[in-house]
Amino acid sequence: MEAKKRLFTGLQPSGQLHIGNYFGALKPFADIYDKHESFLMVADYHALTSLKDPVRLREGIIDVVKNYVAAGVDPQKAVIFKQSDIQEHTELAWIFECLVTVPFLMQAHAYKDKVVKGLEANAGLFNYPMLMAADILLYDTDVVPVGEDQRQHVEYAREAAAKFNLGFGQTFKEPQEKILTGIGTVPGIDGKKMSKSYGNTIPLFGSKDEISKAVMNIVTDSSGERPAIVYAIHKLFRTDVELEPLYDTNKGNYKALKEALVEDIEKFIAPMRERRTNISDEEVKNILQDGADKARAVASSKMREVRQKVGVAL
Ligand code: ADP
Ligand code: TRP
Repeated sequence: MEAKKRLFTGLQPSGQLHIGNYFGALKPFADIYDKHESFLMVADYHALTSLKDPVRLREGIIDVVKNYVAAGVDPQKAVIFKQSDIQEHTELAWIFECLVTVPFLMQAHAYKDKVVKGLEANAGLFNYPMLMAADILLYDTDVVPVGEDQRQHVEYAREAAAKFNLGFGQTFKEPQEKILTGIGTVPGIDGKKMSKSYGNTIPLFGSKDEISKAVMNIVTDSSGERPAIVYAIHKLFRTDVELEPLYDTNKGNYKALKEALVEDIEKFIAPMRERRTNISDEEVKNILQDGADKARAVASSKMREVRQKVGVAL
């Protein structure tokens, strides 16, 4: 039997999730991770480039693990760990930083975008792609599932691998990105892309009341009989064949259609919400501890080889 490919991805603690995040990122990941040998890393040192609040960072780390487990990732089938537990990540990042040039790093879109948005241009943010390269390359990763915005960072990881291999001999595998497209862009309640920065979301782990409040605020176009945004969101939860008769019978009756949507979202979310509340912080810490032990075994062996090759190991 062919060996399973190794998959690696990193997640920044990013606050409350919405159903766009679920269908665009969590679900596509949950659908593929167990067909690979999977590593799921909480990128807490990446988060530190912008988050300087220890209480929120600590909560964010716990939350991101709970979110993925609630969304269906089995901690027995993936190595779930946090970046700061494995010191080899920052160590290797330094070595990569000594191999690449400042102009090369200046081409990173993510850095430029963040600075344009007014984020502080700290050196960590600038070097961010080399820490991400270290994350990926330490594990001989084949596949990196990420959103489109991270594509260039995986290219940077390939460049770092190639540069190191050229200078010191074959050491790192060049990884491939796998862009998680899910089912395309989920619209928000105003019809624009659902995004936490637009305040137009339906919360993923929200209570029925919160879901209902969001759905009742979905913008409806009074000219048509079928409310387009309500339908587009409804389609995430039911097939066209199921929806047709419902929307035919309730032509123009937006309230009934929205109530039906609330019920369908609730039916879908309730078990996940329940699963999430049943995971204790203690359990998360155990998952991360267990994951760190497994990740460290891989990372430390790779780093021993790297230290030899660059000449710091005597
Ligand atoms: P937000 O726009 O709410 O800040 P993020 O940028 O944190 O969301 O996105 C996290 C992940 O969720 C990304 O991989 C992105 O592709 C996915 N995602 C976010 N919003 C949507 C959406 N409306 N439809 C589909 N996927 C989305
Ligand atoms: N930079 C990624 C993001 O913001 C998170 C991340 C860190 C990552 N290290 C990674 C993703 C390694 C994939 C592989 O979403």
